[in-house]
Amino acid sequence: MTYKLLSVKSDVLLAVYKDKMTKVITLCTSKGGTSKTSIAASLLDYWNKKELKVAGVDADPNCNLTRWLDKGSLKNIPHVAQTNEGEIINTVENISDNRDIVVVDIAGFGNQSMVYAIGISSLVVIPSRPSEDDVLEALKTKQIVTNASKLTRREIPYKVVLTQVKAGTLVVEHSLKQFQAFNVPLFDTAIAFRTIYQTSRFSGETPITAEPQGKATKEIKALAKEIEVQLNL
Ligand SMILES: Nc1ncnc2c1ncn2[C@@H]1O[C@H](COP(=O)(O)OP(=O)(O)O)[C@@H](O)[C@H]1O
Ligand SMILES: [Mg+2]
Repeated sequence: MTYKLLSVKSDVLLAVYKDKMTKVITLCTSKGGTSKTSIAASLLDYWNKKELKVAGVDADPNCNLTRWLDKGSLKNIPHVAQTNEGEIINTVENISDNRDIVVVDIAGFGNQSMVYAIGISSLVVIPSRPSEDDVLEALKTKQIVTNASKLTRREIPYKVVLTQVKAGTLVVEHSLKQFQAFNVPLFDTAIAFRTIYQTSRFSGETPITAEPQGKATKEIKALAKEIEVQLNL
């Protein structure tokens, strides 16, 4: 009887523990320039302001995220650069301690860091501009996620977010159709092309800090909400 009670309790505790576990979100695709770093910084900024405990891991040898976060108003967000591919898993594990969310920003070319980070992710976010090159690279990235799922024997969720979208252009419709044809899950939110991403970056801000009521901020919030729902945050 006591044993039964204990085992029920431990199941509940395990469920609570699992629920509290750090969510690792990896931004990746083997194509450069698709907004990985911009979305990583903006999501970190948004969740940090919402008083969630966040941390960033910069796995890109160019260290764009690190340079950005070190510039100014985002300095209080804990982050670490790890360009040694073999160390990426340890680095994510170490910084995960006492964090709700760790966002990992990957370089825009196929590399081991990408595979390792995908392997330990709660969610893989694949940003893709509406262009043939980006769609093809996103599909390749989807295949890497599928293989990593098989390797780790667990389902690794992934979703594509369309970025730098110019509304009403045919290429957006075409890209969406391509992803649908390949059964690739898409976020409802698309990130529009807005110069605030470029200007705010110069000053070490994101659209969240630079224009809290702006359209770019609304889109990042909507994307963050979708992720929150998916990850039960
Ligand atoms: N939604 C956007 N609208 C306009 N420019 C953007 C947007 N997202 C990113 N950029 C710009 O595009 C370039 C590449 O973005 P970045 O986030 O560094 O991509 P990645 O990390 O995928 O290489 C940067 O100059 C950035 O300011
Ligand atoms: Mg980048």
